[in-house]
Amino acid sequence: MQWSRIAVFASGQGSNFAALAEAERAGLLGGGRIELLVSDKPEAPVAKRAEEAGIPSLLLRPKDFASRELYEAEIVAELKRRDIGLIVLAGYMRLITPVLLEPYGGRIINIHPSLLPAFAGKDAIGQALEYGVKLTGVTVHFVDGGMDTGPVIAQRSVVVNAGDTPESLAERIHKIEYELYPEVVRALAEGKVTLEGRQTIIRR
Ligand code: GRF
Repeated sequence: MQWSRIAVFASGQGSNFAALAEAERAGLLGGGRIELLVSDKPEAPVAKRAEEAGIPSLLLRPKDFASRELYEAEIVAELKRRDIGLIVLAGYMRLITPVLLEPYGGRIINIHPSLLPAFAGKDAIGQALEYGVKLTGVTVHFVDGGMDTGPVIAQRSVVVNAGDTPESLAERIHKIEYELYPEVVRALAEGKVTLEGRQTIIRR
């Protein structure tokens, strides 16, 4: 499996997908190549973005399968066919089962709009505002069987301003996501990330 052969998984808008595709075009993913988009929502805007970028996509509806495991088995077969070595979740709104986790252990990453372990799960930006924190941010982490629980690879902070709305805070968080995710994907694609227990090291 080659780290540089990347599949992005997304369910929604796909702005992070677009930022990664743009980073690749600009030569900012190093040797990293986005070979495939996988989406569980064939009608989502991200599918159109992949088409426009000329990136092949695998669009499947989980409800067309008898189980989550059979849905993921279909994905794994396509990933193997394309020799994918790195899975990048970008707004993929499903928990991953062992069918995917086992063959791709340590090769699946996610981006989350908070400083984990704070505000895991849905609506992290809303949760942070509701709690009243003064600082939140973005986390890129390896994926394990839990919800946003895997080892942290990189984090960047964002100050919460008085009077921030979910929209204004989301805008600043997304801006950081579009910078941080390509940087981490590049480091992984170039084999510069090592993981020991929960500790990750990025070699420069
Ligand atoms: C991002 O905020 C990401 O952190 C979270 O889901 C959102 C996806 O947005 N996991 P988009 O689909 O990339 O626009």
